[in-house]
Amino acid sequence: MKKINIGVIGCANVAERCMLPAIKAANEFELIAVASRNREKAANLAAKFSCEAIEGYADILNRDDIDAVYVPLPTGLHEEWLIKALRKGKHVLSEKSLTTDYASAKKVIDEAEIRQLLVMEDFMFPYHRQHAFVKKLLLDGEIGDVYFFKSSFGFPPRGKDDIRYDRKLGGGALLDAGAYVVKATQMFLGRDLTLLGAFLKYDGRLDVDIYGGAMFTNNKDQISHVSFSFDNYYQCSYEIWGSKGKITADRAFTPPPNFAPTIVLEKQDHRQEFVIAPDNHFVNILKEFHRAIRENDFRRHWDEALTQAKLLDQIRENHARSD
Ligand SMILES: NC(=O)c1ccc[n+]([C@@H]2O[C@H](COP(=O)([O-])OP(=O)(O)OC[C@H]3O[C@@H](n4cnc5c(N)ncnc54)[C@H](OP(=O)(O)O)[C@@H]3O)[C@@H](O)[C@H]2O)c1
Repeated sequence: MKKINIGVIGCANVAERCMLPAIKAANEFELIAVASRNREKAANLAAKFSCEAIEGYADILNRDDIDAVYVPLPTGLHEEWLIKALRKGKHVLSEKSLTTDYASAKKVIDEAEIRQLLVMEDFMFPYHRQHAFVKKLLLDGEIGDVYFFKSSFGFPPRGKDDIRYDRKLGGGALLDAGAYVVKATQMFLGRDLTLLGAFLKYDGRLDVDIYGGAMFTNNKDQISHVSFSFDNYYQCSYEIWGSKGKITADRAFTPPPNFAPTIVLEKQDHRQEFVIAPDNHFVNILKEFHRAIRENDFRRHWDEALTQAKLLDQIRENHARSD
């Protein structure tokens, strides 16, 4: 198996905590360099992960020995740096959300299509084995016909300088926590969804949405109800409710690699808990990124990213707003 040489644009928290350890753990990649606006920051992270430090994002893109980049910049900077990376011939693994809206996502995907390069949005949770287990329960008819999908993702307030509160950097709960529950809806109800209604609560001072909710339906009359927030008791769960029972996943989006999530199956007078073996969805998505590059299998990831962007746009364009 030929390794892919990868570089990282931005010494982000998520890179240090999650993706750099996964890149080092996966056999498929050689970590060449990390780039930062700040030389010392790059040097510290590079020392921790045994790679080169580069000052400035443009310089990492000029390196001929780098085939692909992982981009964990604030969402509002993605369009600029994704397009720059593509124009330098790099495949891109972009942190979610891919960009701030559909028009911007389309520019990025069009550039990828012209250059025949992979752009993939870094939603790792679908690559955790707990969801395959849930899908098998559904296929086996354990809860009968599915009518409802309900999902929540929210966490307590972050530091006041956090990128999530900065409108210019693509802040707001919809593009962050909201993106997960919209992605999870597609995993179980399909991608052909119609928005029934949405609500976003804004922080009037910051002008970013702090919490919100939305309802979707599909051509099977299934209903999804999603909630997302920056100002809550921590939740990342989903519940699928059918004619005969209900399935609950309590740690749906962020199970750490050493954590064994529990799936609960409930029916009339019956409750069963399944403890799922730990899985490293950070490594798993990197393996998929590698496979898709090696097999030139780009279209599916381009389409997934565009559908996701379109659904987020629908919420932004049709929500009731409160300040
Ligand atoms: N998939 C997941 O599980 C997951 C989890 C958390 C976050 N994320 C996503 O990852 C991205 C980064 O999130 P994070 O929490 O890791 O953020 P963060 O720690 O604030 O990192 C963002 C990085 O972007 C760079 N940057 C460039 N211009 C900036 C500016 N004007 N202000 C602030 N930073 C700037 C900085 O790198 P330098 O200083 O080194 O240049 C900074 O370290 C976001 O898109 C977020 O949605 C994904």
